[in-house]
Amino acid sequence: MKIGVIFYSTYGHLFGMAQAALNGLKKNGIEAELLRVEETLPEEVLEKMGALEAQKSFADVKKAEVENLTDYDGFIFAFPTRFGNMAGPFSNFIGATGQLWQTGALIGKPFGLITGSATQHSGQESTLITGMVPFIHHGMIFVGIPQSEQALFNSSSMEGGSVYGATTIAAGDGSRMPSETELSLAAVLAVRVGKIAEKLS
Ligand SMILES: Cc1cc2nc3c(=O)[nH]c(=O)nc-3n(C[C@H](O)[C@H](O)[C@H](O)COP(=O)(O)O)c2cc1C
Repeated sequence: MKIGVIFYSTYGHLFGMAQAALNGLKKNGIEAELLRVEETLPEEVLEKMGALEAQKSFADVKKAEVENLTDYDGFIFAFPTRFGNMAGPFSNFIGATGQLWQTGALIGKPFGLITGSATQHSGQESTLITGMVPFIHHGMIFVGIPQSEQALFNSSSMEGGSVYGATTIAAGDGSRMPSETELSLAAVLAVRVGKIAEKLS
């Protein structure tokens, strides 16, 4: 029984959220592996975007390979918002899973989603809701965060987190890193996926 925590990140925020998910799983005795979806933007573009330095921090993480997805019993998928949708590199990765769809290789496997955006009201939930669609096509089982999680009721400070998945808010200049609450919700979601995967397997 093993959970794949598969992320794409440009500036490191989603890497942080994916690490929190991984740590949550491990603390609960659930085997898990962190995997990185490869960048598709050329280096000169990344340099102009000011992303090269941040990308060094996760360059050593093992690359996710489509053909190895069958090794996992459940997944956390983490990707930033791009115009209210899943970021392109992650979409490319999922676009290469046609063979797995044809053979029904991922049917019945649970998954949870993590995303992040610059600001609070600019596409987090649309990214989670549209982001689940390809995995539903695969016959996978969507796992959200139940509202028994008190952090989802917070209205006194700006925090990510949704019933549709864990989220973080990066700020327009990327200066805000995931908060303790956001990281803890990433872990809660991951453990929920892990426990459901255990029951299903
Ligand atoms: C091309 C592009 C489109 C983006 N679109 C949005 C958006 O629609 N809403 C938003 O709040 N942030 C948007 N952002 C900001 C990213 O979501 C933010 O930088 C990201 O969540 C940070 O995560 P990362 O460090 O893991 O890449 C966009 C960023 C880029 C580069």
